[in-house]
Amino acid sequence: MLENKTQNTKEYPGGINAETIKNLCDKFQRYNSIAPELFKTYHVKRGLRNEDETGVLAGLTRICNVHGYLIDEGEKLPVPGDLIYRGISIRDLVKGCRADDRFGFEETIWLLLFGYLPDAQTLDDFTKLLASCRELPRDFTEDVMMKATSSNIMNQLGRSVLSLYSYDKNPEENSLQNVLRQSILLIARMPTMMVNAYQVKRRRFDNETLFLHPLKPGHSTAESILATMRPDEQFTSEEAKLLDLCLMLHAEHGGGNNSSFTCRVLSSTGSDTYSAISAAIGSLKGPRHGGANIKVTEMLEFIKEGVKNWNNDDEISDFLRKLLRGEVGDGAGLIYGMGHAVYTISDPRAEILKLYAGKLADKTEYAEEFHLLEAVERLSPAIFHEVKGSDKFICANVDMYSGMVYKILGIPTDLYTPLFAVARIVGWCAHRIEEMTTGKRIMRPAYKSVSRSQPYVQIQERKTII
Ligand code: COA
Repeated sequence: MLENKTQNTKEYPGGINAETIKNLCDKFQRYNSIAPELFKTYHVKRGLRNEDETGVLAGLTRICNVHGYLIDEGEKLPVPGDLIYRGISIRDLVKGCRADDRFGFEETIWLLLFGYLPDAQTLDDFTKLLASCRELPRDFTEDVMMKATSSNIMNQLGRSVLSLYSYDKNPEENSLQNVLRQSILLIARMPTMMVNAYQVKRRRFDNETLFLHPLKPGHSTAESILATMRPDEQFTSEEAKLLDLCLMLHAEHGGGNNSSFTCRVLSSTGSDTYSAISAAIGSLKGPRHGGANIKVTEMLEFIKEGVKNWNNDDEISDFLRKLLRGEVGDGAGLIYGMGHAVYTISDPRAEILKLYAGKLADKTEYAEEFHLLEAVERLSPAIFHEVKGSDKFICANVDMYSGMVYKILGIPTDLYTPLFAVARIVGWCAHRIEEMTTGKRIMRPAYKSVSRSQPYVQIQERKTII
């Protein structure tokens, strides 16, 4: 049911006062509920999930496999998770790049878009191509991003992507050539848009100095982000490689993840690239999706405040119980950073990030916070089963430790979810192209109508509803 949270708000911009909106909400609530049992009656696949919580099969893809369980004689069996980009495990991809001490995000982009690993020359050419596309159109920041700015960088990113339509001489053509061209430009420009949106936000909302450093041609994506984000443009190779790792881990997650599916839904209508990508950004922003990384950080602050002894499991468990009951925290009843629609025993991205976060935090001011997150991960499954009475497996997901890594890198909280978007746009573009070339049918699921029929009454004869 729609919550009525307007009591304390006297006036809404646009002139609707609190009393009016409260009355409208009361009227809405009287006629707009659907009894939960009806979803069972009509076998509705809520959240597009089957009864055993597996996802409804909506398509075929060559891009990625998110492996979190096995089906044995019709039963769902939990297994350790794996994330497989174009047939290659993310662990191997990361290991390969780390062994050569080189950046891996550009290689990941090539792999996801084209389906195979690039040789050294191809990778070098592609990295240079991306770097050459990173610049935004002339005066874009001044004319678009500095006007009617919002304090939310995800909102700024969505608006900016939509506005790029106006700067494209061929925005509508959905041929492979044109969409690939748009995709490469968008992937390259996302980090620049993110950093510029952040700088503009700081100036406008935080009263800080605005600086827009020029882009350096030889920089990888991760280096470019760190150089343009920091006032002194300085960073270490270790820092850039760590951010690069985060980008690799976030680049793709199958066709069923909400933002990629959103992108596929829009692509299935034949809509343009800018509309499809900005819609995906809107999806990722949600706290149950990419927005969870900020929520984990917020939750950690609630725990730090609410738990006196961070080494006391009983005290932490009590707090988690209250979190699940919606009595503390943001009241949503969620333990952010825990749970996943596909993974059961483990999320490989969380495991990799935890390893790095643990090493980085060790013997620093962040060590205690890291151990607190570890405790949340360790204690949550049992508390979840106890409070919810559910036998669902919940493990730490990618968002549990990513915020900690960003914090250690000195990345502001404002950029946690936008960084996810900077990486995930690769998956969105790959899925858009796949949907256009292999789907070829508008997505159009069904909604069973449960409304009662009512006669049309002439306006003079209608009763006033108070
Ligand atoms: N904390 C509390 N309850 C949780 C939960 C969590 N982390 N994860 C799942 N649940 C609950 C749901 O609230 C729901 O309960 P209900 O039946 O009483 O409404 C039940 O488990 C099933 O949830 P559902 O959303 O259908 O399961 P899912 O496996 O598809 O959920 C997430 C996936 C990620 C949306 C869910 O685990 C979640 O909201 N996690 C917290 C947010 C988060 O970390 N998101 C990042 C995703 S990478």
